[in-house]
Amino acid sequence: MQEFLDRLHQALAKKEATNSLRKLTLNNPDLVDFVSNDYLGLAENKETTATINTILSNYGLVHTHGSTGSRLLAGHSALAADLEVFLAQFYEAESALVFNSGYVANTALLSTLPQKTDAILYDERIHASLKEGARLSFASRVPFQHNNLEHLERRLQAQEKPTFISIESLYSMDGDIAPLDAICQLASDYNAAVLLDEAHTTGIMGNEGKGLAILNGVADKCFARVYTYGKGPGGHGAVIVGNQVLTDFLINSARPFIYTTALPPYSLASIWATTLTFQKATKARAQLNENINSFLVHLIGNANSPIQFIATGSPETAKALANHGQANGFNIKAVISPTVPEGKEGVRIILHSQNSIVEIEKLCQTIKEFMAN
Ligand SMILES: Cc1ncc(COP(=O)(O)O)c(C=O)c1O
Repeated sequence: MQEFLDRLHQALAKKEATNSLRKLTLNNPDLVDFVSNDYLGLAENKETTATINTILSNYGLVHTHGSTGSRLLAGHSALAADLEVFLAQFYEAESALVFNSGYVANTALLSTLPQKTDAILYDERIHASLKEGARLSFASRVPFQHNNLEHLERRLQAQEKPTFISIESLYSMDGDIAPLDAICQLASDYNAAVLLDEAHTTGIMGNEGKGLAILNGVADKCFARVYTYGKGPGGHGAVIVGNQVLTDFLINSARPFIYTTALPPYSLASIWATTLTFQKATKARAQLNENINSFLVHLIGNANSPIQFIATGSPETAKALANHGQANGFNIKAVISPTVPEGKEGVRIILHSQNSIVEIEKLCQTIKEFMAN
């Protein structure tokens, strides 16, 4: 036993020595939020709470705290079935299947769909959950350079196996947007299937917050799309949409769907209610765009993106910049390896519709001050 504890101590000491030890910290409510994924300030929306209660009451589930089992056993419900019909229609797909989180949905998708005889081409910057899923599959895994169409095409040309392409529409760390139309075109040219993660666009981009695939008219070019509820919608959970046969296959084969207790009624009602709330949040989305533009007036960054990354190149400088920001009243955090590759450390800034222009300007000033020294 002691040997194993020593091993853990040593691993953590190594992280401490390289400035990469992670610790849980409580959010300081006095700091201005430039860190949460609550892009539109919907996580505490009263109308959503009221809608959740109405939905639960309509289904006679106000006092039901648990789903009591996997969806395939006791955990299915009329609420879950109706929610999935609603979500399929909302995301303009034939079918939808709810998962307990985005992490679980991505792991399920990537570990279940690609078979031993297939290949997964993935953008090198995809989220850990997608990489994890790919690792669990028996398919061969080949990365391509981030958002690099030429590199992707070379990879496709070289590929002899049936191929899945795993991408995000808005990258969670870099904050840049994938060239979706061109990737879908390449996928169609090379007969590959696109698996698209819309985690950071759900609720905040596209008409009614439906994300970028629908906005760009390429939704039906994607084999599967993942929408998550923990970020823009301000809730929790996720949904995979696509053809009915995709849903049927996942129900039959996706272990993270089969072997887990289904979400409780409250969470299902929350997915439904948050969708109805963000669908109407046109003003908040417009304000978010204004805030992004005001950030870009002061600092170079990603166009049209609420995720801005200030690269510092080392964990020490990233932490120093985060501390400087916090000392000046802004909640910003360092992002260090292995969340980003070594040498690509920095501070990730999330812009929200609820940030004021003055706050954004002051934050930019604070960052510039730090960079100048
Ligand atoms: C791109 C991306 N996909 C999926 C996830 C996981 O979603 P969830 O937080 O719902 O598990 C995240 C969360 O960080 C993400 O950034």
